[in-house]
Amino acid sequence: MIQVQNLSKSFQNIQAVNDISFTINKGEIFGFLGPNGAGKSTTLHMMSTIIKSDEGSIYIDGIATNDHPSACKQLIGVVPQEISLYEELSAYQNLMFWGNLYGIQKDVLKERIHTTLELIGLLDRKKDLIKTYSGGMKRRINIAAALLHQPKVLFMDEPTVGIDPQSRNHIFEVIETLNEQGMTIVYTTHYMEEVERLCDRIAIIDSGKIIAQGTQTELKELVPTKESIQLEYSLLSENNLQELQKLLPYSINADKNKICIEGSVQELSNVITVSNELQLSIKDIQLNKVNLEAIFLHLTGKQLRD
Ligand SMILES: Nc1ncnc2c1ncn2[C@@H]1O[C@H](COP(=O)(O)OP(=O)(O)OP(=O)(O)O)[C@@H](O)[C@H]1O
Ligand SMILES: [Mg+2]
Repeated sequence: MIQVQNLSKSFQNIQAVNDISFTINKGEIFGFLGPNGAGKSTTLHMMSTIIKSDEGSIYIDGIATNDHPSACKQLIGVVPQEISLYEELSAYQNLMFWGNLYGIQKDVLKERIHTTLELIGLLDRKKDLIKTYSGGMKRRINIAAALLHQPKVLFMDEPTVGIDPQSRNHIFEVIETLNEQGMTIVYTTHYMEEVERLCDRIAIIDSGKIIAQGTQTELKELVPTKESIQLEYSLLSENNLQELQKLLPYSINADKNKICIEGSVQELSNVITVSNELQLSIKDIQLNKVNLEAIFLHLTGKQLRD
């Protein structure tokens, strides 16, 4: 659906995007994960034809953005990082404004505003002025504005920044519904939980460069540490440990009443069953997961967020 090849962009002496390439498949949710200033918005701005690249090419549904920006604009919906709504107008009036910019015929536009407001769950608030909306509701209208011309691809730049968990979940559900309906989605964030929840494939970006990309499973393989389970028992004798070792097919590291086993959550039920068989009472369980935060730390030596 989207091919980006050797894309670069500098602002004066800042290299915002430095020779990045990636492909986004039709129907997937592709995540851009990176810290502040990584180059996420700049990349999306070039893909949305808002700014021109210095080098490289972008194809959307086979069309080159540099050669045919207007045709590309019809294919994409853009949810900007900053909310771009008129505070003194109602949600309905704002959406009318955006729909008119796309030249959508009035009757069709009214119909689309209705279905879009229904999708984002704000149909009953359509007459209220934007200034009376919460941050999360504004974010949802910001998304609605990007959908009116029925794009094939949706670019979302940090659409959940500064909102409460409930609105965030609502936005996730909207994204999942749109994706089920066939929409390809590009999603930028610096929250690894968001890409873990939403994205099929992920590009990790730092200082203008893609430092890793792939599915979550592929990315986890980049880290040498393995996932592990740690259990603490009320009491674990030397005898108990030997029995555990006999019954469990993993090598066990033990320290006082604690044991640690290399393995992921799938192994947990087996460990609990065996512990119960041996009548060992479990005091605490800890899962040490390899998450995208750990991958970022491994690849850059930095935390994803300060
Ligand atoms: N118009 C501009 N003029 C000058 N520098 C810019 C401009 N836009 C972006 N930059 C710089 O380019 C770099 C990348 O910025 P960008 O906005 O793409 O990062 P980002 O990953 O979207 O960050 P954030 O998570 O904070 O939104 C930063 O160093 C930024 O200061
Ligand atoms: Mg940004």
